[in-house]
Amino acid sequence: MTILRDFPFILHGGDWNPDQWLPRHPEIIDRDFELMDRAGCNTFSLGIFSWGQIEVEEGVFDFSWLDSIMDRCAEHGKRIFLATPSAARPGWMGQRYPETGVVRADGSRAPWMSRQSACLNDPVYRAGTARMDEKLAERYHNHPALAGWHISNEYSTVCRCGRCVEKFHAFLKKRYGSLENLNDCYWSAFWGHRFTDWGQVCPEDPALDIARLDWMRFVTENILDFFRMEIAAVRRYSDKPLSTNMMGTFGPLNYWAVAGECDFIGDDCYPDWYIGDVEREAARFSFLHDMHYTMLDKPFLLFETCPGIPNYHPYTKLRRPNEFVREMHLALGHGADGTMYFQWRKGRGNAEKIHGAVVGHDGSDQTLVFKTVAEYGARLNKIAEIVDSRRSQEAAVLFDWEALWALNTTSGFGGDSVKQYEKTVDLHYRALWKHNVDLAVIDSMCEFGNYKLIVAPMLFLLRNGVAERLKAFVRGGGTLVMTYLSAYVDENNACFLGGNPGGKELRELFGVWSEDIDGLEPQVKQSFDYNGIRHEVRDYAEYLHAEGADVLAVYNSEFYAGSPALTSNRFGKGKAVYIGARTGLEFLTGFYGDLLAECGISPVLSGIPESFAVSRRIGKDETEYYFLLNLTPEEQRFPLPFPMEDLWNGTGEITELLLPPSGSTVLKRRNG
Ligand code: GLA
Ligand code: ZN
Repeated sequence: MTILRDFPFILHGGDWNPDQWLPRHPEIIDRDFELMDRAGCNTFSLGIFSWGQIEVEEGVFDFSWLDSIMDRCAEHGKRIFLATPSAARPGWMGQRYPETGVVRADGSRAPWMSRQSACLNDPVYRAGTARMDEKLAERYHNHPALAGWHISNEYSTVCRCGRCVEKFHAFLKKRYGSLENLNDCYWSAFWGHRFTDWGQVCPEDPALDIARLDWMRFVTENILDFFRMEIAAVRRYSDKPLSTNMMGTFGPLNYWAVAGECDFIGDDCYPDWYIGDVEREAARFSFLHDMHYTMLDKPFLLFETCPGIPNYHPYTKLRRPNEFVREMHLALGHGADGTMYFQWRKGRGNAEKIHGAVVGHDGSDQTLVFKTVAEYGARLNKIAEIVDSRRSQEAAVLFDWEALWALNTTSGFGGDSVKQYEKTVDLHYRALWKHNVDLAVIDSMCEFGNYKLIVAPMLFLLRNGVAERLKAFVRGGGTLVMTYLSAYVDENNACFLGGNPGGKELRELFGVWSEDIDGLEPQVKQSFDYNGIRHEVRDYAEYLHAEGADVLAVYNSEFYAGSPALTSNRFGKGKAVYIGARTGLEFLTGFYGDLLAECGISPVLSGIPESFAVSRRIGKDETEYYFLLNLTPEEQRFPLPFPMEDLWNGTGEITELLLPPSGSTVLKRRNG
């Protein structure tokens, strides 16, 4: 099995904080075990913020409550991802060693308080973490309830203390080797930056785009270093699978680097199903699930999602009937082998006391949320055979953290509110996803040759070697799409000489020269016509010249009217498409529909109407599992192209799909 070798079931459970109830409320724990069985929950994350409840005083450890909880979990057949509690250091540490606190951007040191507030390089905090982790691993590595390790929680700390900045300088030294090379790569004659010592590089110098980009690289490297330290501590005693929980496209942390250290990917996802946003949200979370599947090319675990409503969302709107199960089917259909919740039970006090949970303050199993989770839990057995099944993707969307950082550290293009790299990638993803094709989400270091089509919107920075690899991909028969604001800078955040995109290399690949980019104020009307339809252009229009590419559409207005807006270039056995302007979803959807057909990429289920979303997993003997979601608040029907067994509803073979409002199901098609 991909996540847990000896557990051929879908993982189902959540974050459980029994230590919030102990020792005063043992009856709550008894009740929890009862309710867990009733909800069909088999797996929990435990001890995420429990450092202070275990190391009660410096060097004084009390494992008694955890021993008892772990033993009871084993008795009840619960599998535990035991957390290393590094996200929340204890009060005695904060008080005795105030230097363990992070230094904020303004130079002040944060007082001891909430989680994720410790400097990852502080020796006391590091040694304390390693000792705590080792003790947990030593004590529980053979425990029958232990499934694996949940390392820390949502790593995200950025610290500006002297020690961290010193480490940043050491990182630069390793990366650039000599000051001479640093000065070269840093274009340091600009505003008189010529460096004579590594210590002179200021990570937030507003003039130094490259230093700010390197700081982002360092933040990832720094978190990785801490993560590796925790892994090493656990690995001294335990070889059980481990992971840490990711937060989607959280800006400061390049999760592709984190993924490389994980045995499986665990992620936290909190969609909203607001009226009018269902399709967008379903596409957004499909994108994230696809990225998490692609990262290790295998099933992942949804570590956290909310069975009710996260307290911090703009509208704390209750889940409507079927929405919860549909959300779970979305994750499973995109490659999750388990769905877990934050949180199992609502605590009584503090910041998350009204955050949704399986069990509320009433402790009841009669709430809508509990009953929904329990019914879902019971039905998971019917689809347990999907565990370990794979996905197959012929098209990929590229999202790259380095491109994000480079774009956002570059002043120009109207600022962050206009640039919107993530939203743009989302939109392109959604336009492809609407065609019901299964997609991979890659970064620029992934193997390109696995796909027929790669869409890489706004890939502003090209890392070393990527231009050549893109060319090889197209030369070999691949289709590549890039857009405005692609390939403006190299790995040093320095502009390419020889014109955009990407200097000589990509100009040749796309057969196009982007002379400049027009930033459009909202009153400026720009557009192009494609297939007889007029498409509005917003925010950005590149001023392009074809240099061998076929011009598919031209701009309608301004001084560059008649110049190319959309081009396509044959290169080797493949082709390279350039979209010069920012368009809406409608254009992209139509355009990608044609392109997918040209590439020979078919929908996973042909003829399925817009109101549905579908994804596919492929199991043993090529058995196919189709996850079908009704994205509308009305009942929907669809005559299936071939008969399939309705696993989720247990209704045997069906030829017509009928889904209730916001409903979903899992169908099985045997090979042959
Ligand atoms: C994150 C954290 C959890 C909890 C949830 C609330 O994902 O990891 O501890 O705070 O958010 O949504
Ligand atoms: Zn620090």
